[in-house]
Amino acid sequence: MSILIAVATAHNSTRDIAQRIAARLATHTSDPIDVLDVANVPADGVSRYATVIVGSAVHMQSWLSPARKFLHSERAALATRPVWAFSVGMPDTEVHAVKEEEMIGKNVRKEVPELRGHVLFKGRIEREHLPWPGRLIFKWFPNIWKFGDFVEWDKVDAWADEVGGGLKKD
Ligand SMILES: Cc1cc2nc3c(=O)[nH]c(=O)nc-3n(C[C@H](O)[C@H](O)[C@H](O)COP(=O)(O)O)c2cc1C
Repeated sequence: MSILIAVATAHNSTRDIAQRIAARLATHTSDPIDVLDVANVPADGVSRYATVIVGSAVHMQSWLSPARKFLHSERAALATRPVWAFSVGMPDTEVHAVKEEEMIGKNVRKEVPELRGHVLFKGRIEREHLPWPGRLIFKWFPNIWKFGDFVEWDKVDAWADEVGGGLKKD
């Protein structure tokens, strides 16, 4: 039975992370793995998949709206299969990272109470991704806010290994 990794992204880092998770999971299972934008999940939804991983970029401390809508519309099917979730954000400090991870995990569990796990990964941010007020904040607080690629691939691989281990127990 196949695995779905469904993502919502604004600037692609979430999709890149999903592809990396898929590649790593493929070392744990021979099941087919599809990485799809939530908008491209087939009309019969997640029912053709045995396992689902949902990922979203974080904007304004929340998942992107297509990911939130996907969780809500698919909640019945998600309740009957193993589900993991990941977020991709750019918290300014480790304390905020922990808080954001907890808060988003709690929100995802409102739709998927049996969620197996949720993690927040760092992503990428560039000047042109932000509206002018955001750019100003980066300009005024260069010690706190920095543009660039902050993806921690080792952390992504380690999480995919955890999920892969979980799959073997099902
Ligand atoms: C308009 C905007 C708002 C954002 N708000 C947050 C936020 O509240 N918390 C956070 O951790 N990251 C925030 N970020 C950072 C993004 O989540 C980060 O750049 C992530 O890598 C984006 O993923 P994507 O490339 O898949 O779109 C924001 C980025 C943008 C462009």
